[in-house]
Amino acid sequence: MYCAHLIVPLHKNKKIKMEIRIASIDGLSAAAREFVAAMGERKVFAFYGKMGAGKTTFIKAICEELGVEDVINSPTFAIVNEYVDGEGEPIYHFDFYRIKKEQEALDIGYEDYVYSGNVCFMEWPELIENLLPDDAVKVTIGEEMNGERVVRF
Ligand SMILES: Nc1ncnc2c1ncn2[C@@H]1O[C@H](COP(=O)(O)OP(=O)(O)OP(=O)(O)O)[C@@H](O)[C@H]1O
Ligand SMILES: [Mg+2]
Repeated sequence: MYCAHLIVPLHKNKKIKMEIRIASIDGLSAAAREFVAAMGERKVFAFYGKMGAGKTTFIKAICEELGVEDVINSPTFAIVNEYVDGEGEPIYHFDFYRIKKEQEALDIGYEDYVYSGNVCFMEWPELIENLLPDDAVKVTIGEEMNGERVVRF
């Protein structure tokens, strides 16, 4: 009886948590490198965090680490921006902030992007939560009192 009780939480706890701390803008590229090293074969990354938490900034640093050379602008007016990484593979950067219903994401071809097998980074994924693939990696970014950013996934 007691054994079973102890085993259940261990069995359920399959998610490995990682934490990356970014003390300042200077630490961004090292933090992005750490993130890239941890990405493995995962492709879809959903970035949660308040307005101004640093989602765009960190995604941009990750893209640079992946070899993207084009200037990355915040996709404020486009739901999806496409970049090309150092190996010529596309990376899709979504910002769902302005979306009013999930159908709008479907209308721009969301499913083609997200199931393309290419890397996808998403801001404001809570607005398309029902459309997230099961294997999406949930990443949260928060700002501490001292301005430090903490990334957990
Ligand atoms: N690691 C960091 N250290 C210091 N400042 C940072 C860091 N990350 C982001 N900032 C600053 O915080 C501000 C907001 O960052 P950013 O635009 O990346 O936030 P966001 O989470 O994408 O916001 P939104 O929800 O509006 O898209 C920017 O001025 C940026 O320079
Ligand atoms: Mg942003």
